[in-house]
Amino acid sequence: MSPQPPVLGPQDFELCGVPLRGRVLNGSGTFDAIAARRAFGDAVLERFPFHAFVSKTITLEPREGNPPPRLWETPAGMLNSIGLPNKGLEGFLGQDLPQLAELPVPLVVSVMGFSRDELATLVASVGERPEVAMIELNVSCPNVETGLVMGADPAETARAVEEVRPRSDKPLIVKLTPSATDPAAVAMAAAGAGADAVSLVNTLKGMALDPRTQRPWLGAGSGGLSGPAIRPIALEQVRAVATRVELPVIGMGGIASGADAADFLAAGATCVAVGSESFRDPAAGRRIAAELASAGTHLSAPAQPLV
Ligand SMILES: Cc1cc2nc3c(=O)[nH]c(=O)nc-3n(C[C@H](O)[C@H](O)[C@H](O)COP(=O)(O)O)c2cc1C
Repeated sequence: MSPQPPVLGPQDFELCGVPLRGRVLNGSGTFDAIAARRAFGDAVLERFPFHAFVSKTITLEPREGNPPPRLWETPAGMLNSIGLPNKGLEGFLGQDLPQLAELPVPLVVSVMGFSRDELATLVASVGERPEVAMIELNVSCPNVETGLVMGADPAETARAVEEVRPRSDKPLIVKLTPSATDPAAVAMAAAGAGADAVSLVNTLKGMALDPRTQRPWLGAGSGGLSGPAIRPIALEQVRAVATRVELPVIGMGGIASGADAADFLAAGATCVAVGSESFRDPAAGRRIAAELASAGTHLSAPAQPLV
């Protein structure tokens, strides 16, 4: 059987010139399409849960990630301190990219550099691959020491985007951190430096104590909070960004239903991404897309930002 496209929204549309058959993506690092296919076979391709697939963030060199434990469940979400384990650029291009290229939807590759040079190398190498539709710059991961710096500051973000912009013609999505003092100012800086879209939010920094020892539970000490607990914060930041930049906004943070997704679209997002909910329900993206469609949400044009 040939792969079926995911549930369609009322209308296909383009994100940064890339045709998509609906508006539901995954949050980087929250759905392992390669592992899912290994476990469930080609059924994953036939009923793929997202309209575009965002890879987990890759770095130039391989990384083992943070020491365990790496997860802690909170009453309305989860803390993670995964620490970006990945095969590095060469490992990704050689081993993962050929498998991700078989997915039935456009591929977005998420990259993170510890310097602007590293970021530029990643963008140039990933961007020249025809399998890659768009590139997401992760300037917002709070789990890695240097990750916060670029995305927390408008000028640093602008310098990073200016450095990488000439390295690829592929659309660049800048993923914003909710920990910036003014995420809309960072979004405006990214837009001014040549970004094609912004996505938000990444996780919020948090900590949990081991009840037996009163010491930090997570191996890295602290981690990133995601899930429904952060949804109101994400919604406010999406609205603030969408009212101040002309670029498409990919909204995420605690989306668990079509109604949640519709809220983000009403707040000014062009697309939404599903993250933590996929851990509870690996088919969540498909369900949320179907709920959005059956709710009759008007998706033919980007929603007007609330004022
Ligand atoms: C286990 C886990 C791993 C993640 N890994 C990445 C990553 O590699 N790169 C990235 O930009 N964001 C990463 N994120 C952040 C998500 O993409 C998303 O921005 C965040 O979780 C908020 O969405 P949610 O509340 O729907 O999970 C990760 C989140 C989780 C929970």
